[in-house]
Amino acid sequence: MGFSLMRNQKFMPTIKHLLIISIAINAGLLLKLLHHEHEWAGLPGPDTNQKNEVRLVKDVLHKAKPATDQYINLDHGDPTMYEVYWKQMGDKTTLVLSGWQSISYFSDTKNHCWFLEPGFANAVTRLHNLVGNAQTRNYHIVVGTGSTQLFQAALYALSPSNAPEPMSIVSAAPFYSSYPLIIDCLKSGLYKWKGDASKFNKDDPYIELVTSPNNPDGSIRQAVVNGSGGILVHDLAYYWPQYTPISFQANHDIMLFTVSKCTGHAGIRIGWALVKDKEVAKKMTKFIEISSIGVSKDSQLRAAKILDVIADTYEHTEKFDKSTLFFHYVYNEMAKRWRQLRSAVSKGQTFSLLDFPVEKCNFSGQRFGTQPAFAWLKCEKSIDDCEKFLKKHKILTRSGTHFGSSEKYVRISLISHKEEYDEFIRRLSLLSSMKSPHE
Ligand SMILES: Cc1ncc(COP(=O)(O)O)c(C=O)c1O
Repeated sequence: MGFSLMRNQKFMPTIKHLLIISIAINAGLLLKLLHHEHEWAGLPGPDTNQKNEVRLVKDVLHKAKPATDQYINLDHGDPTMYEVYWKQMGDKTTLVLSGWQSISYFSDTKNHCWFLEPGFANAVTRLHNLVGNAQTRNYHIVVGTGSTQLFQAALYALSPSNAPEPMSIVSAAPFYSSYPLIIDCLKSGLYKWKGDASKFNKDDPYIELVTSPNNPDGSIRQAVVNGSGGILVHDLAYYWPQYTPISFQANHDIMLFTVSKCTGHAGIRIGWALVKDKEVAKKMTKFIEISSIGVSKDSQLRAAKILDVIADTYEHTEKFDKSTLFFHYVYNEMAKRWRQLRSAVSKGQTFSLLDFPVEKCNFSGQRFGTQPAFAWLKCEKSIDDCEKFLKKHKILTRSGTHFGSSEKYVRISLISHKEEYDEFIRRLSLLSSMKSPHE
């Protein structure tokens, strides 16, 4: 029938019309599909770029302020503070991955760490060289699902499999609250949590975890045990110039880093270890092979892109505005948050905070004191249980008892959304200026 219609001259104008309508409908559909594709990925479309970026930034900036009767949760160190910076960077870190990519388990069969993406390894090396916070030359890189997995890989690699007793693991109090939980979780025969390093009997072999700057109190640390049978693991999650002056290039035997606290991308679950000894690196790799058959390639590619963009903001200044210099931007935000906190605490005698010595940062050339991702707040006066006291006023924090310390202390995250943080400061200022606060 279609054929006979085409042959009929009388109907030709209608067919032309139909063709035009059909082309218009298809073009419309195509545009709609393209637009949806961008929306689906949460990315701005090519010609609406500017508009969408502004909208995304506005979404973050206008995140609802918590109501005065709502709890503010500053218990976890969830780095949502970083969202504003990355939204301002728009599609600079956009990565498009096709269905055929990341199929194989393997990333680099020539490397002892066969699941390490070469692009990620290059980005890690590039960033350390730029910041000067750790040596990479003659180190082996092992990638992990967060530094949480690498920490366990290090314990596995360093604990002898045939020892009569499990290896003792210690860290000076106050220590990162996850260490005892992770170490004793599976009741391993290889190692055992022995608590505060400053109380450890030096004769037994041990592994000491040195966290610097320290979580929870921000102190700059060195090993405290100094026994002959000791092995050190340095957790340098916070050794970045937004938190502390970079005063030396770290060159410890095993150093753990994570994007969670460096770039704020805790959700992509990527960490890396710099390991001097090849055999230790191989054993750490074995642990990751056994426990998760490698590490997400997609996450490594995303992490590589993000680390490279940070380096680009410094090394390709012609392409970036000065206000996008990553570490400078986040340093300023941390400095502001610490000023707000110290000002709130100084309104009365209810709370106190530690002071940090001022040092020169070799990266920025500036002199400043550590401005940690967490505050280690002490409740003074008659308040014995600081966590309970703050909870009564709808501020959730983590008690010092989780860190091998006293309930007079709490750890408070400083890296949450601005709206939450501002409301926390408002509440803390009120509590601080109370004449006689009660639990
Ligand atoms: C000292 C320290 N190490 C390790 C981690 C865990 O990092 P990741 O998210 O890479 O597992 C954290 C997270 O808060 C931390 O504070």
